[in-house]
Amino acid sequence: MAAESTATDSHSASPLQRPWTPQSWTKMNTIAQNVEYGDSTAVHEVCNTIASLPPLVSPAKIEIARSHFAAAAKGRAFIVQGGDCAESFHDVRPHIINQKVKLLQEQSQMVAQGLNLPVITVGRIAGQYAKPRSNPWEILPDGTKIHAFRGHNVNGAGIGERCPDPHRLLLGYFHARATLDLMKERQLPVTPPATGPSTPGIDDTLFEKTVDPFESPEGTIFTSHEALHLPFESAVTHSRYNTSASFVWIGERSRQLNGAHVEYMRGLRNPIGVKVGPTMDGPTLVELLDTLCPNPENKDNIGRITIITRLGADCVEKVLPSLIQAVKETYHCPVWMCDPCHGNTQTTKDGVKTRHVDSILQELTRTYQTHRNNNSFMGGLHLEQTGEFVTECLDDTKLRSEQRLAFNYRSLCDPRLSNLQALKVVRSFVDFVRNCHDQTKD
Ligand code: PEP
Ligand code: CO
Repeated sequence: MAAESTATDSHSASPLQRPWTPQSWTKMNTIAQNVEYGDSTAVHEVCNTIASLPPLVSPAKIEIARSHFAAAAKGRAFIVQGGDCAESFHDVRPHIINQKVKLLQEQSQMVAQGLNLPVITVGRIAGQYAKPRSNPWEILPDGTKIHAFRGHNVNGAGIGERCPDPHRLLLGYFHARATLDLMKERQLPVTPPATGPSTPGIDDTLFEKTVDPFESPEGTIFTSHEALHLPFESAVTHSRYNTSASFVWIGERSRQLNGAHVEYMRGLRNPIGVKVGPTMDGPTLVELLDTLCPNPENKDNIGRITIITRLGADCVEKVLPSLIQAVKETYHCPVWMCDPCHGNTQTTKDGVKTRHVDSILQELTRTYQTHRNNNSFMGGLHLEQTGEFVTECLDDTKLRSEQRLAFNYRSLCDPRLSNLQALKVVRSFVDFVRNCHDQTKD
């Protein structure tokens, strides 16, 4: 690890009094999804090496991301976030990365034009290499017990590669570096969205508010990943900046109030996200926000936290209004983002994980509508997708039948929308939003 912890073992003190360091999480009792390595000295050495390497993302870029997220929290920008559930080291190749970047750019352009808002583009890319698992073990058909696949930063997906190997963390750093280098070449300007309508035939602006002069590095794709593997995340943390991505989030399985992940995240300057599933209630959400951000009245904290709801299409209307209301009664001003994927995963009778495009779209539109009904703003969407033509999610076209999923199912973890499906979801969402707006005007 980068430096010795200076935190005292005082996790019962309130977060305001408790000193934070990039390693203070090590003192917490609960470290969810912790990886047990055979050789802890090797983990320590690898993390020291990573800590000595240059940042993958500069603090200056992270500050820009932070100001952009603040705009999304205020309803003046919209975040398009997407990418793999689990990135593969083997996919760090020009044509695969180019397709991911192109997809994100096309989606952002659609949203920018359709919603007439500046768009912040964020890839689940260049570091999405660690996965939470419901069960750390997998039982093979012959009864052998092996480690579950935990993401390429931890182990390989193949049956013979499951032993956690700390040297993969260093590989993760360099694969992220190579991905960022490739992305830099691909970042073409997208149409500046802030001024006036650009869709022919549409002559009104969707949100009739003054748009802040928005210093957007047009075409920039911010990178993001789940901050799950804390030895890695703290090794790349320098002066409160997690320099491995602009935006990091914690997942539904690692957001325990007194847990290590919340402790680690609360000290960062990066905009941070927290996934929220259907079991969340208003008071717990507020407690979580207070722990992550004890001074919500400070204007600098607007948009510092992104609440990523992933409730499942059927739970949105039941659960979301009380969450919105509870947050409204505080000073917190988060970005509300919708991940319509993780609450809508199903397993086929053959044991294949899939999602239906219709459910994904339903969760998106219901979430948008629920925010509108509650005088709140949904400031972003978050999709698991790839630029390739995979057959992992079902839809009403050729991918209607579950048998077709076997054709090109390549995901290392959850099912991703294919290129066409991902474009369709965003296009339909934008049409829905425009319709909502048109109806209110009539
Ligand atoms: C994910 O984003 O891949 C993930 C595991 O999400 P969640 O924490 O919401 O289940
Ligand atoms: Co996933």
